[in-house]
Amino acid sequence: MGRLDGKTALITGGASGIGRAICQSFAREGATIVCNDLAVEAAQQVVNECGQQKQGLAVKADVSKSRQVTAMFDKVRKRFGRLDILVNNAGIGLENAQVRARFNKVIAKQRAELATQGKITTSLEATQNLTDQDWERMIAVHLHGTFYCTREALKLMEPRRSGKIISIASICGMTGCAGAPHYSAAKAGIMGFTRSVAREAIVSGVNVNAIAPGYIDTPMTQAVSDAVRQAIEMATPAGRFGTPQDVATLAIYLASDEANFVVGQVMSPNGGYVIA
Ligand SMILES: NC(=O)c1ccc[n+]([C@@H]2O[C@H](COP(=O)([O-])OP(=O)(O)OC[C@H]3O[C@@H](n4cnc5c(N)ncnc54)[C@H](O)[C@@H]3O)[C@@H](O)[C@H]2O)c1
Repeated sequence: MGRLDGKTALITGGASGIGRAICQSFAREGATIVCNDLAVEAAQQVVNECGQQKQGLAVKADVSKSRQVTAMFDKVRKRFGRLDILVNNAGIGLENAQVRARFNKVIAKQRAELATQGKITTSLEATQNLTDQDWERMIAVHLHGTFYCTREALKLMEPRRSGKIISIASICGMTGCAGAPHYSAAKAGIMGFTRSVAREAIVSGVNVNAIAPGYIDTPMTQAVSDAVRQAIEMATPAGRFGTPQDVATLAIYLASDEANFVVGQVMSPNGGYVIA
């Protein structure tokens, strides 16, 4: 018997990395998978990997677009008539290649300064160089997307007085990550949103929580330079990046009945990078 038998779960950004591991893990626990992504062929591939070619569903939608999210939930309503679990996972990192290159260059310079002078004097200057477009896209995908999907999910869950909503935040939302003010702001926003909605929705039997992972090995973190990677590993007591499965295992718990008394929490699998 699986811990999610009979449940229907929608995972946004499920075609890659953490989302893919959550789809596969939920399927192993008995859930029917709705895998959302911009990359719908890859999402369908994940549904197939889950062995759910027939009962599962891959849905293309940009979570930052309200109308596309509404259309996606209409599909879920028509096909299943219910939704038991929503995982707000879709996300983007530092997508601007120019910004990433500059970031890696300055980090290398900072490390050299630290080694030779014992202190860092060169700023990343990420905030003063951040464009409106990069700021707005980051907030739209993470924060607007989490709101649009949660709003639609509650319409399906609250009348049935049951459901689990899990949003993927980040340690960047807890500590602030240098060089990623937009990402850190979006993730901190997700945590505040989670705490508010959790208080509201639990009276209808819906649990709302967040997961704030530390550094996880996925396509998103592949762009990190060797020097940055080494620095992160040294700052992580566990001495390594996490695996997507390290996050998925926690998601299974939060999606299951075992977590019925967990309300408005931000749980952080991070290898000890942040301990509070
Ligand atoms: N990898 C890490 O170290 C790490 C750490 C903390 C939090 N996170 C968060 O975990 C989540 C998953 O990240 P990942 O590392 O697996 O990244 P990933 O790049 O492997 O996967 C992200 C997926 O989201 C999809 N996506 C992007 N924008 C979308 C949109 N507008 N609508 C629908 N789908 C969209 C992408 O196509 C991709 O399949 C993200 O929210 C990320 O911010 C990642």
